[in-house]
Amino acid sequence: MEAVLLEDKPKNLFESEFYASTVFADRNLIAPHYTPNELPFREKQIEEIAKNLSLCIHNKRPDNFFLYGKTGTGKTSVTKNVISQLSEFVSQKNIQVRAEYINCRNHNSKYRVLIKLVKELYPTENFLGYSAAFVYEKVLDYAKKGNNLILVLDELDKVKDLDELIYGLTRGNDELQGKGGITLIGISNNLNFKERLDPRTKSSLCEQEMVFPPYNAEELRKILFTRAETAFKKNAVEESAINLAAAFAAQESGDARTAVMLLLRAGEISDKNKSFKVTDKEVIKAKQTVEEEIIFDMISTLPRQQQLVLLAISDLSLSNKGIKKLNGLHEEHVLFSGEVYEQYRVKAKSLQENIISSRWYRQYISELEMYGLIHTTSSGKGIKGQTRLIKLGYDAKKIKELIEKEVGG
Ligand SMILES: Nc1ncnc2c1ncn2[C@@H]1O[C@H](COP(=O)(O)OP(=O)(O)O)[C@@H](O)[C@H]1O
Ligand SMILES: [Mg+2]
Repeated sequence: MEAVLLEDKPKNLFESEFYASTVFADRNLIAPHYTPNELPFREKQIEEIAKNLSLCIHNKRPDNFFLYGKTGTGKTSVTKNVISQLSEFVSQKNIQVRAEYINCRNHNSKYRVLIKLVKELYPTENFLGYSAAFVYEKVLDYAKKGNNLILVLDELDKVKDLDELIYGLTRGNDELQGKGGITLIGISNNLNFKERLDPRTKSSLCEQEMVFPPYNAEELRKILFTRAETAFKKNAVEESAINLAAAFAAQESGDARTAVMLLLRAGEISDKNKSFKVTDKEVIKAKQTVEEEIIFDMISTLPRQQQLVLLAISDLSLSNKGIKKLNGLHEEHVLFSGEVYEQYRVKAKSLQENIISSRWYRQYISELEMYGLIHTTSSGKGIKGQTRLIKLGYDAKKIKELIEKEVGG
């Protein structure tokens, strides 16, 4: 059929809105929750996880795996990628393997994890109101039919009664005696988390483990190029904008999520301003919003007591006059570890919360530092003996507002 040309007709009123100029070819492909098929610089991790999991296709139980590394190092994407390939393969070959992914941020107790799991395994049944013991038996029943169950527990550190959950699931294997099996892949963004596990949980879960290192600027640059190729229209993103986004993200923490979000938000800014191109200017503008989004997200998932410690730090930073060092120099917004702990106790008391021990307090402080939310240094000799000095990594007022919203302070 011959194309009908309508060029001589007046333009429809809605046309320009419909074809509103956008730099994106498919915005979804650069959204942070999207799992790309290609994951450059993670080939080794993918191969190693796949090698272990491939035991299940020969009806052997793979080792439990513990994956950890900072946020944005590709743990979730790598794992989802491997299990989706596994699921596809076993369904083609009719092998009795079932892989399930659960994010414990949304299912943060043993009961919630088990309920989520049985709902996936038995989609037509209703488990509302059943006991944890009953639900657990249903999981075992599923494996007893000869199924190898691979359970990915992402953001594992969010589970309140984790020891019981891990113990329950791994003990299941003894009961199964080779008829099917349960394999766990636990993931955590917290580098210290393993040290906190009960020794028995640790030895069950960490039969194998793998650290995901941060990406460097060059790696982030290549990752962004690959992602931008499909997500954006041709020539819509300037090369220097990609380099800049990669450099920013590498500076922060080698986090690919920050890098991807920078490009996404930069693209949205271009669209809003109808500038048709993503340049350095949009990336620089995007930096602030992305930083805030990421910090807010991080803070909102901290345990409540740790939020209160951070709140104490923001409170003091806002009122604090700084300290005078032995060399006579004045340093602003630097706090003594002891005064922060005191302020935290006052806060926790006023909110009628339990008060954590000073040992836990120190643990929380070192985690906050690992997340980049605070910086600490040693005072050196001279100031009140030797003590740790704490400085907030971000704007105190913003952090305070955010935590107060969370804890209702
Ligand atoms: N090697 C990679 N190639 C392409 N995109 C990646 C890669 N690693 C991470 N990403 C992207 O970065 C973001 C964060 O990755 P994610 O797997 O969620 O990290 P983690 O689970 O370690 O926090 C996601 O949008 C993901 O698609
Ligand atoms: Mg993740």
